[in-house]
Amino acid sequence: MFENMYLETERLVLRPYTMDDLFELHKIVSQKEVMKYLPEKVMTQKQTEKTLTWIIDCYKENTQKKIKKFSVGVFLKENKKLIGWCGLGPLEFDPSEIEIYYGLSKSYWGKGFATEAARAILDYGFLIIGLKKIIAIVMPQNNASKRVIEKMGMVYRKQIENLPAKHKAYEGDLYFSLTRDEYDSIKEKKHIANLD
Ligand SMILES: CC(C)(COP(=O)(O)OP(=O)(O)OC[C@H]1O[C@@H](n2cnc3c(N)ncnc32)[C@H](O)[C@@H]1OP(=O)(O)O)[C@@H](O)C(=O)NCCC(=O)NCCS
Repeated sequence: MFENMYLETERLVLRPYTMDDLFELHKIVSQKEVMKYLPEKVMTQKQTEKTLTWIIDCYKENTQKKIKKFSVGVFLKENKKLIGWCGLGPLEFDPSEIEIYYGLSKSYWGKGFATEAARAILDYGFLIIGLKKIIAIVMPQNNASKRVIEKMGMVYRKQIENLPAKHKAYEGDLYFSLTRDEYDSIKEKKHIANLD
């Protein structure tokens, strides 16, 4: 489900990946600055290929009731270049929660692209998928991402503590969330140009 999603914002296109995106995606997930605050860390070509194959397989399994993983590519509208990713998927240490995530190639940081992409996928999550709540978690030192989360209107709730050993990578992260009701009350529709 959602395999035919195609979102246009002012400067970006968000769409599901195909295997043709492998080369460009790998150029992004092999940058150490990009992966610094992410649990995955820098990927090898093999890991990127395995991950991309898995993401594409998930497109068939996602349903409105259960999202397995919904990661899509973020492309520049002007030249269709892949510059990053964003998506929605269950939180690893609590799959009852759906988290929003994103990342961009370093050369495209600082231009508002992450906020533009994240807002579009947030809209998609609430308005098309019909989610009742979306959360975001971030390492306290990831200031750029914290700012993106704030600009989406998400609300800080707590610091994550007391996780079991297998999820310790998330210990101390900051937890933000937004319910559908809260989203409706802050909504500015102007950033959605085209919801498929
Ligand atoms: C986080 C990330 C996606 C932000 O992308 P971006 O396109 O630069 O984000 P935006 O331009 O939309 O917004 C960034 C905001 O953070 C601010 N910012 C950037 N670096 C900052 C820093 N070191 N300290 C404080 N604020 C910072 C910017 O000024 C901007 O806020 P503003 O609009 O109020 O000026 C990008 O840095 C990235 O890909 N990081 C690696 C992957 C990652 O960490 N993903 C998130 C995991 S939770």
